[in-house]
Amino acid sequence: MRALLGGTADGDAVATLTAGHREPVGDRPWVLANMVASADGATAVDGESRGLSGPADRRVFHHLRGLADVVMAAAGTVRADRYGPARPSPAVRAARAARGQAEVPLVAVVTRSVDLDWDAPLFTGAEVPTVVAAPRDADPGRLDRARAAGRLVTAGTGGVDLPAVLRELGRDGARTVLCEGGPGLIAQLAAASCLDELFLTVSPLLVAGDAARVLRGDALDPPRPLRLAAAAEEDGALFLRYLVGDGR
Ligand SMILES: NC(=O)c1ccc[n+]([C@@H]2O[C@H](COP(=O)([O-])OP(=O)(O)OC[C@H]3O[C@@H](n4cnc5c(N)ncnc54)[C@H](OP(=O)(O)O)[C@@H]3O)[C@@H](O)[C@H]2O)c1
Repeated sequence: MRALLGGTADGDAVATLTAGHREPVGDRPWVLANMVASADGATAVDGESRGLSGPADRRVFHHLRGLADVVMAAAGTVRADRYGPARPSPAVRAARAARGQAEVPLVAVVTRSVDLDWDAPLFTGAEVPTVVAAPRDADPGRLDRARAAGRLVTAGTGGVDLPAVLRELGRDGARTVLCEGGPGLIAQLAAASCLDELFLTVSPLLVAGDAARVLRGDALDPPRPLRLAAAAEEDGALFLRYLVGDGR
């Protein structure tokens, strides 16, 4: 990986790209999102994100997971990309422990239907119980099932109140939440002014079709400015680290 902006000539380029000062914002953790898109903006190929990724993107993906206290994803992404539990390497566990973090990040799934595969490794094989974030008025039987399979956090009615869930995770000690999508969830976080940082991999592919863009939702009014904090390149893919907001 070759640093284009914000890098140093030596050292681990992925670590340089992802280095940053991340502190809770008020009463909620710092929230960063990580997404990969084709050069024409598609976030999926045949309904999955893996067709857009490559070895360097996977290194960034795993490195960011290593930094986060919580990995958050919406239920659609958990289903489409067949999420499993977080399984950090011994080296990552040691680095996390040295920073005072839990060895394994929490995985949190945001769902309205609370219709998840409770027999999947995400629930049966997780070292730390997977968090299910659901609205308070979801089906009571399904909420009971979620409570039995992992750790249930309820907030909001009709849909999950994301800022409330972030505050709850913060009260639990989380300082950094990594949101891995999908596009609908990231748009909601941005709309709620709960998105602080965006890692975007631009994959050297044209996809067309109707896959969602990086954010899918109502237009942000006004659009949120981004500051490019770091950039790198490998095998034609661009790795961009943005800070959200104009820094004032
Ligand atoms: N390129 C990338 O980096 C990337 C990253 C992630 C995903 N993707 C792709 O994006 C697609 C999935 O994205 P998507 O936008 O269709 O789905 P999504 O955002 O991942 O999931 C949508 C689902 O999340 C739940 N949800 C979202 N916001 C909620 C809220 N506020 N309260 C309660 N539940 C909420 C609902 O779950 P229920 O259905 O359970 O009610 C909803 O149906 C897949 O093709 C995936 O491969 C790409």
